[in-house]
Amino acid sequence: MRRILEIHPRGAPAYPVLCGPDLVEGLREVWAPSWKKAALIGDDNTLGMFGEHVAAALRERGVEVLKLSFAPGEASKTRGTKQALEDAMLRAGLDRHAVVVGLGGGIVLDVAGFVAATFMRGIDHVFVATTLLAQVDASVGGKTGVNTVDGKNLIGAFHHPRAVLLDTAALAQLPPDELRNGLAEAIKHAVIEDAALFASFEAWAANGGAASLRPPIDVIATCVGIKAQVVADDPREHGRRKILNFGHTVGHAIEHATSHAMPHGKAVAVGMVIEARLALARGRLSEEALVRLVALLTRLGLPTRPPCPFVTAAPYFSRDKKNRDGAIHCALPSRIGEIAPVDGAYTTPVTVDELREAWGN
Ligand SMILES: NC(=O)c1ccc[n+]([C@@H]2O[C@H](COP(=O)([O-])OP(=O)(O)OC[C@H]3O[C@@H](n4cnc5c(N)ncnc54)[C@H](O)[C@@H]3O)[C@@H](O)[C@H]2O)c1
Repeated sequence: MRRILEIHPRGAPAYPVLCGPDLVEGLREVWAPSWKKAALIGDDNTLGMFGEHVAAALRERGVEVLKLSFAPGEASKTRGTKQALEDAMLRAGLDRHAVVVGLGGGIVLDVAGFVAATFMRGIDHVFVATTLLAQVDASVGGKTGVNTVDGKNLIGAFHHPRAVLLDTAALAQLPPDELRNGLAEAIKHAVIEDAALFASFEAWAANGGAASLRPPIDVIATCVGIKAQVVADDPREHGRRKILNFGHTVGHAIEHATSHAMPHGKAVAVGMVIEARLALARGRLSEEALVRLVALLTRLGLPTRPPCPFVTAAPYFSRDKKNRDGAIHCALPSRIGEIAPVDGAYTTPVTVDELREAWGN
């Protein structure tokens, strides 16, 4: 595996991000000798597909491995799942020297990271990201958490992993729609921070990318680099880190309104279009930028229209974590490659009427 990045979170140890197809070699490189017991946490799919491969590699190093999994999907991203995992770890005698290995997509990493954040008041964890979405986004930044009936990711903690492995071999088994989910977050990184990356996505999509849906390792590395940089500047999301939420105020409401029938990446794709329309309506973003965004998403087979009427999603806007003083906040782009602050703020209050107008149905 190639060491593509070293992340230096404020107040936590630096950790490497490795990317490539040889997971066993990657684990060997990052494994600390003190990690003698591991809770290997995946969902039923990822543990079934890759669990034994990872467990065997760890056992070969003399590590005792407890394999734990839960049903795939957002419905499992709950406090109940976290509790069941913790109880199993306690029953197996894991202590504060144990390590959690999260093996899977963003859901597994969010849950496994949250388990590690509170087990024995916090133990080490390593992420093995197996979806494109987790590789370009969810695996770095230290945000962990679960959903509740009131909204997405409302309960959680900041807890940084000790190492992140981006398993590119796993992407060969990822269904096209899951690749699309990851592409949505990758395009978000381009819109908020890197106009050249956006142009390279356009060229890639026009030259075979729309068929393969698997971006080159360098593109994955650029996306993780953007996320890492934004997070390093503002680890607790007091200011600029909010730009990573472009598309997410609307996206989270869509996920909830559809009971996650529209998954995270696709909901973010629609969210980016609606929030870009809000930016256009405010004279902040050009029509050309909106057209380019819609064209790129469409070319890659991502949705650009909301899957439900505005009235269905409206109640969920009031529960967004970014709300302040009762107002809904969105991170609105000022051009492709930038979310410029307005009066020092990276999110903008928007009204329900503006949202309804941008929703378009
Ligand atoms: N913490 C963060 O910073 C952050 C950032 C972005 C998104 N997220 C969270 O990530 C979640 C979405 O993550 P996701 O899109 O990876 O979803 P996911 O974890 O549900 O994975 C998608 C599906 O693909 C399967 N899968 C995983 N790897 C596979 C492989 N290699 N081959 C075949 N199937 C595979 C999974 O079992 C699942 O069914 C959301 O809950 C979102 O809130 C977190």
